[in-house]
Amino acid sequence: MDLAPAFDRLMASHRSIRSFKPDPIDPAEVDRLLHAALHGTSSSGNLNMVSVVKTADAERKAHLCELHGGQPMVLQAPLLLTFCADTFRTREWLALRGARPGFADFVSWHTAAFDAMIFAQTVALAFESRGLGICYMGTTLFSMRAIADFLELPPQCLPATTLVVGWPDEAPPQRDRLPRQAWIHDERYQRPSRDDIEERFRDREARGRARYMESSPEMAQLWRDHGITSLAQYYTSRIKYDPDRFAVFSAEIEALLRERGFGVASAP
Ligand SMILES: Cc1cc2nc3c(=O)[nH]c(=O)nc-3n(C[C@H](O)[C@H](O)[C@H](O)COP(=O)(O)O)c2cc1C
Repeated sequence: MDLAPAFDRLMASHRSIRSFKPDPIDPAEVDRLLHAALHGTSSSGNLNMVSVVKTADAERKAHLCELHGGQPMVLQAPLLLTFCADTFRTREWLALRGARPGFADFVSWHTAAFDAMIFAQTVALAFESRGLGICYMGTTLFSMRAIADFLELPPQCLPATTLVVGWPDEAPPQRDRLPRQAWIHDERYQRPSRDDIEERFRDREARGRARYMESSPEMAQLWRDHGITSLAQYYTSRIKYDPDRFAVFSAEIEALLRERGFGVASAP
């Protein structure tokens, strides 16, 4: 079976989708795709230390929408999947079998969270292969505690990411990426010169700036209000990935990991 053309088509068809039709997704098909995706994804030690919480209920989606910073697609998409790094279930199994306790430390968070992320991406491809659209919700990290509590996650189980899923109601053009010279290295890392950086970011800077300025008059006004004149300035401005807010989120996440048994100094 030659899968290469299917892979190329799937890659070419990817766009994050932020506008969805109200049509539901067959729940049996959702579970089938999730099941197939887990089988088709590598798993550290094959421990499968992930859990997925499905949210389709309108009221519960409305609450999660707030926790995701009001991003409208959370409410609009028929399905929300929260991917959790979950060593709780494994620990319960170990206890049941009288094994040494473990997986309650920072390394285990890292392991389970990476498993959850690569699994999420397989799930994303599974849905995209069926013509469904997805968008990741990075806001999962910023509201980790509130989402964990709302989904009633046990200790040693925290959300790593979220996908909204639904039938696309938009067909945006495919987004650019950095050119391959920027990030593919032969044998060892080749540090870019200032000229390399200039050249490798030039196109995306022009396109990114144009996209934001043309996306809505409100966005263009925000750029002016915040004195933003380039894409680079936008990224660390107060209206995007504000380093001051990131410092607060980082401290919150660190405290939460420790509290839920994923800290550097957590005892098994
Ligand atoms: C971990 C992760 C978190 C993301 N979080 C958000 C988000 O909160 N809101 C959003 O609109 N898009 C989010 N995205 C989507 C990215 O903005 C998108 O992938 C990127 O702009 C490239 O566009 P494309 O996916 O259409 O190629 C996220 C993507 C990833 C991988």
